[in-house]
Amino acid sequence: MSDLKAYLREQQRVIDAALQRLLPRSSVRPSALHRAMRHPVFAGGKRLRPILCLAAAEACGGDPARAVTLACAVELIHTYSLVHDDLPCMDDDDLRRGKPTTHVVFGENMAVLAGDALLTEAFAIIAQTPECKKYRVGDYVTELAFASDSRRLIGGQVMDLEGEGTALTRAQLVRVHEAKTAALLTSSLRLGGMSANASSAKLQALTDFGKSLGLAFQVIDDLLDVTQSTEKLGKTAGKDAAAKKATYPAVLGLKKSKQEAHRLTRKALSALQPFGRRAARLDQIAHYLLDRDY
Ligand code: IPE
Ligand code: IPE
Ligand code: MG
Ligand code: MG
Ligand code: MG
Repeated sequence: MSDLKAYLREQQRVIDAALQRLLPRSSVRPSALHRAMRHPVFAGGKRLRPILCLAAAEACGGDPARAVTLACAVELIHTYSLVHDDLPCMDDDDLRRGKPTTHVVFGENMAVLAGDALLTEAFAIIAQTPECKKYRVGDYVTELAFASDSRRLIGGQVMDLEGEGTALTRAQLVRVHEAKTAALLTSSLRLGGMSANASSAKLQALTDFGKSLGLAFQVIDDLLDVTQSTEKLGKTAGKDAAAKKATYPAVLGLKKSKQEAHRLTRKALSALQPFGRRAARLDQIAHYLLDRDY
């Protein structure tokens, strides 16, 4: 575990350094916009999606250094989705990653535009990624666009909003979470695999891993919203119940939700078999995500 903690810290450092290099400086005009873009990115996220991208490259026998720009692109999509998720017209949150949200610091108009610009920047960055034998820049772009599109990330956010105050069935809940969370997690892994020239069988195994891991991830996120403090989470606790969100704890209760997270994690781990010992990091990360407390 201490080894994993050190690994995660080191990967975070690599990602942060690359993001510092790739994003326009705060002094670049319009400065207010570039400050508003940098604020949420460097507020202190866990960097799980980019780390999964790098670990997937390793699992496929590649050099994680070749996956860094792909990993950064994924983190920018994730961060933009959080900036917009927190807006008053969405989940209306004033705390994120332990800091006041972008719209609180820079105003709602600038937060919308900073989100737009982070989304655009993600695709500009992905277009600079070195190609490998099997995959072209167009393949990377298609992969990221798939996860972020109107049927996955955005569609999931729409279903999440429409689900407020309604009693979703378990199957509907799974659909929301697959779209809003598991899809981007899965593409993070697949992009890492693509940077390592992975076979389509290996990409499929990463897809199976990501789908279950992504669902487990959102189940735990929903549980933490109920069980943890705002200080620990770095975002406002108890928001889901207050907004009558359709969540796993709301539909299944706390105990069954925790069991479901365990079951999904076991299912995810079983998909790692084709990678053998090279998947040691992915295995460790999956266990860590289940036991995380923020
Ligand atoms: C929060 O994601 C949003 C969800 C999709 C559940 P993270 O828990 O990965 O948030 P950061 O990146 O560490 O802030
Ligand atoms: C956010 O889900 C998912 C996306 C931003 C796509 P949540 O609304 O549960 O995330 P938190 O709890 O605010 O981080
Ligand atoms: Mg939300
Ligand atoms: Mg939210
Ligand atoms: Mg949440």
